[in-house]
Amino acid sequence: MPDTTNAAKATGLQIGDPAPGVKKVDPILVADNVTRNFGGMTAVDVAHVEIPRGVITALIGPNGAGKTTFFNLLTGFDKPNTGQWIYDGRNLAGVPAYKVSRLGMVRTFQLTKALSMLSVLENMRLGATKQTGERFFSALITALWRKQEKEITERAMELLARFKLDTKADDYAASLSGGQRKLLEMARALMTSPQLVMLDEPMAGVNPALTQSLLGHILDLKSTGMTVLFVEHDMHMVRTIADWVIVMAEGKIVAEGYPDAVMDDPAVIDAYLGAHHDTDLGTLTGQLEVAIDDDDSLVQQITDEIAAESANTGSTDDRKGTA
Ligand SMILES: Nc1ncnc2c1ncn2[C@@H]1O[C@H](COP(=O)(O)OP(=O)(O)OP(=O)(O)O)[C@@H](O)[C@H]1O
Ligand SMILES: [Mg+2]
Repeated sequence: MPDTTNAAKATGLQIGDPAPGVKKVDPILVADNVTRNFGGMTAVDVAHVEIPRGVITALIGPNGAGKTTFFNLLTGFDKPNTGQWIYDGRNLAGVPAYKVSRLGMVRTFQLTKALSMLSVLENMRLGATKQTGERFFSALITALWRKQEKEITERAMELLARFKLDTKADDYAASLSGGQRKLLEMARALMTSPQLVMLDEPMAGVNPALTQSLLGHILDLKSTGMTVLFVEHDMHMVRTIADWVIVMAEGKIVAEGYPDAVMDDPAVIDAYLGAHHDTDLGTLTGQLEVAIDDDDSLVQQITDEIAAESANTGSTDDRKGTA
């Protein structure tokens, strides 16, 4: 496990002084004028934000600031009222969630979406993209299908071993602890070999015994070249692993910069962090229950995705470059 106390922090990420919307030297994601209204309330109103590539960015802010809604918009799980965003040179506004993940941008959920009545390994396999067996004609070619099945299972088992869940591969996901479900969700997100991993409160509901290994796993993502954007209320975790911090309040980006500068800024502390300031690991973790997804919504979503794809003239891989 990496030494999280001495994790090398990135510098020189931005062009000019840190301020809301500041340009980055090498952004992986650039969003403009993204708004989302619910009834009369504006949940997200982001004029401009850039996410730096290859480092860990924390998105923080009080409850109801719009962090999860912003994640939902960027990853195609919700539609904005206005706005656009460019991921790795490609405009993603209007692109559905399954395509976004195939383009290398994946997210996990604040309330985990492990499917209780499937095994841990089956949950992992749902994270794989482009399964030949999902397409009617290809499914007829059994040999091809079997080969891909084997590759997917191998990749799943490798990832499960990395997250110390391999001994649980055949257990129902329902039997996992809240923290183990968080790990499973992160492992599943990695099945697609993503470039940008978005984690919505990875520490919430995680037993303190697992938090250190979770921090290690997030640092591992960075060390293997991935970009991480995570939402977190645990300020100790943010300070420990984030290279850059973006503060959101009432839908807007109100501050951004390097962790120490942002989190020691009295205006940010008073106005936006309030009671969360300097709350240590373990104090806030566990504040949110882990949702048990028994409504099969994820299965339905995946079924819809497969149907949409089949209707889509059997197109092959949308991903640019190498996976
Ligand atoms: N589907 C929805 N319908 C109506 N209002 C919504 C919906 N989703 C979110 N909201 C509202 O939008 C605002 C932003 O919510 P959001 O969940 O994005 O906040 P958050 O920053 O993720 O908060 P938390 O830290 O508590 O997770 C809140 O006022 C919330 O009640
Ligand atoms: Mg949220």
